[in-house]
Amino acid sequence: MLFLALESSCDETAAAVFTDQPRVLSSVVASQTDLHTRFGGVVPEVAARAHLRQLLPVVDEALRQAQVSLRDIGCIAVHHQPGLIGALLISVSAAKMFGVALGVPVVAVNHIAAHIYACQLSAGRPIYPCVGLVVSGGHTALFHCPTPLDLRLLGATRDDAAGEAFDKTAKLLGLGFPGGPRIERAAATGNPHAYRFPRSMLEPADDLDFSFSGLKTAVLYTLHGQNRTTPAELPTGQALADLAASFQQAVVDVLVEKCRRALVQTGERRLAVGGGVSANRALRDGLTAMTQALGVELFIPPLPLCTDNAAMAALAVEQYRAGLFAPPDLDAIAVLG
Ligand code: KG4
Ligand code: ZN
Repeated sequence: MLFLALESSCDETAAAVFTDQPRVLSSVVASQTDLHTRFGGVVPEVAARAHLRQLLPVVDEALRQAQVSLRDIGCIAVHHQPGLIGALLISVSAAKMFGVALGVPVVAVNHIAAHIYACQLSAGRPIYPCVGLVVSGGHTALFHCPTPLDLRLLGATRDDAAGEAFDKTAKLLGLGFPGGPRIERAAATGNPHAYRFPRSMLEPADDLDFSFSGLKTAVLYTLHGQNRTTPAELPTGQALADLAASFQQAVVDVLVEKCRRALVQTGERRLAVGGGVSANRALRDGLTAMTQALGVELFIPPLPLCTDNAAMAALAVEQYRAGLFAPPDLDAIAVLG
């Protein structure tokens, strides 16, 4: 049987076709980065309108690449939470209408659970039970995942998400949007120990929550001083590289340490990581070293499955098998449920 999946939770419009194995036949993503760059961040209404324009062409392209037609589809999957509400509403409305028009069921998929499931999809073998880390522009959270459909929250950010900290700090450093890849590039020639930025929430030793807003403020004070009213000049050259590398190292140290704690506390032997920040090489290297020291398996999907996409909604196959279908009054939900 074939599934058609839709994703429009933030600033990527995506559709995918997969079988009930699941095997992904196509995965199409239309990024809106260019639309949001001039605002220095994602503007919710701009995102929703772009989804409205792009969704059906993206679905068309996913069907074309999979070499199937709408009549071949037996189930619709849609990420219905969490995300920007206006953005989510576009794909949730479309999914319901596809369901009615084709006379097939709809499965509502949790986008965060799907980020972790992307690890199983790319590994091609079971990864559960595991600890899951989701690090994106909107989320930073750790879960104990006994099964693909059972996510137990262990800890989450109290303020900024890790990706948000990258984006805001990049803005402070004059690097523009999106911040993550730009900071990573600037950090390549920098000394990660040049500045001692705070590693927050490491006390008490069993704490699994995160806080990244203080780190951004520490970079701001380093740049401008605490009492200056006029901004200092933007850093360049080695100073910029050192600031970027020191900031990145502070984020990586906290993420790696919290994952280590979660693995020790749960006793699980697998760590699954998803979300845009997992593209970061320093984070991948830090997690690799930590999991090797613990003798734990690490799963990080290739980039197209780390960032937002509809293929990871193949989690819907598990829900379909369990008879978990969406009701006709399915709603979009902004927060992680
Ligand atoms: O998962 P994602 O594509 O979208 C959502 O936020 O849902 O993640 C985007 C976030 C942005 O904050 C971006 O700056 C960050 O992931 N990011 C990175 C890197 N690539 C993307 N952060 C650090 N290093 C990177 N290489
Ligand atoms: Zn996401």
